[in-house]
Amino acid sequence: MLVSAKEMLDKAKAGHYAVGQFNINNLEWTKAILLTAQENNSPVILGVSEGAGKYMAGYKTVVGMVNGMLEELNITVPVALHLDHGGYDACYKCIEAGFSSVMFDGSKYPIEENVAKTKELVKVCAEKGLSLEAEVGAIGGEEDGVIGMGECADPKECKAIADLGVDMLAAGIGNIHGKYPENWAGLSFETLDAIQQLTGAMPLVLHGGTGIPDDMIKKAISLGVAKINVNTECQLVFAEATRKYIEEGKDEIGKGYDPRKLLAPGFDAIKAKVKEKMEIFGSIDKA
Ligand code: 13P
Repeated sequence: MLVSAKEMLDKAKAGHYAVGQFNINNLEWTKAILLTAQENNSPVILGVSEGAGKYMAGYKTVVGMVNGMLEELNITVPVALHLDHGGYDACYKCIEAGFSSVMFDGSKYPIEENVAKTKELVKVCAEKGLSLEAEVGAIGGEEDGVIGMGECADPKECKAIADLGVDMLAAGIGNIHGKYPENWAGLSFETLDAIQQLTGAMPLVLHGGTGIPDDMIKKAISLGVAKINVNTECQLVFAEATRKYIEEGKDEIGKGYDPRKLLAPGFDAIKAKVKEKMEIFGSIDKA
């Protein structure tokens, strides 16, 4: 059964480790992540962007697939199904469809409007038992056509949003989605520290987990980050493994063209990457 992300993240924050949010794109992704979490006795969050939700034939399809896998694969570790960077309408659609967690990305609204909409969703999510993530300060890079600049959030605005009763807070600290450019300045630990001092026990969320050096990840966890989102890195290893299979001509040997064979190297690559991240985040055996 899907669970809200609240309990697993409160535990992670108190225990100084982080739970990974791994974004899903299809059946292979979902199965690879769930099996890896189970094998490593780790809690996990499956992230679904609005674009990925549309690609997978809608939020109800995603809920059906994930719930089916939890049962058929005997997944007993805590799993949350989470809307990633949702707009206001998408949050309601996911609540309705059976997600156990949503992110309302109000960072594009003026702070007053972000506050008003977040406040409303706090109430709805609390009534229905879902966890809610809010965002302050746009997170850079491109995601589903939205381009941010990698800015740093205002710690006072973070406190204003945290005080509304959200379960977790994503704050821009110089992180960006996708690959980091050569001249990236790194995470702003000064900003993160200031945010954590004002927001206290609130689990903080680090987006753009792809390509952040391990030492920065560990330092971010020590400063209150309890959820780390990873998407691009799984896509890169999947593409690399699939390319290798085809370049080696394996799809032309016997029934190598069978999608169950063709997609197997990419599936294994995602599993290895997710395990590697769980080790760095410290979530293994924390289920
Ligand atoms: P990356 O694609 O950079 O790993 O970012 C993932 C993310 O933050 C999803 O919200």
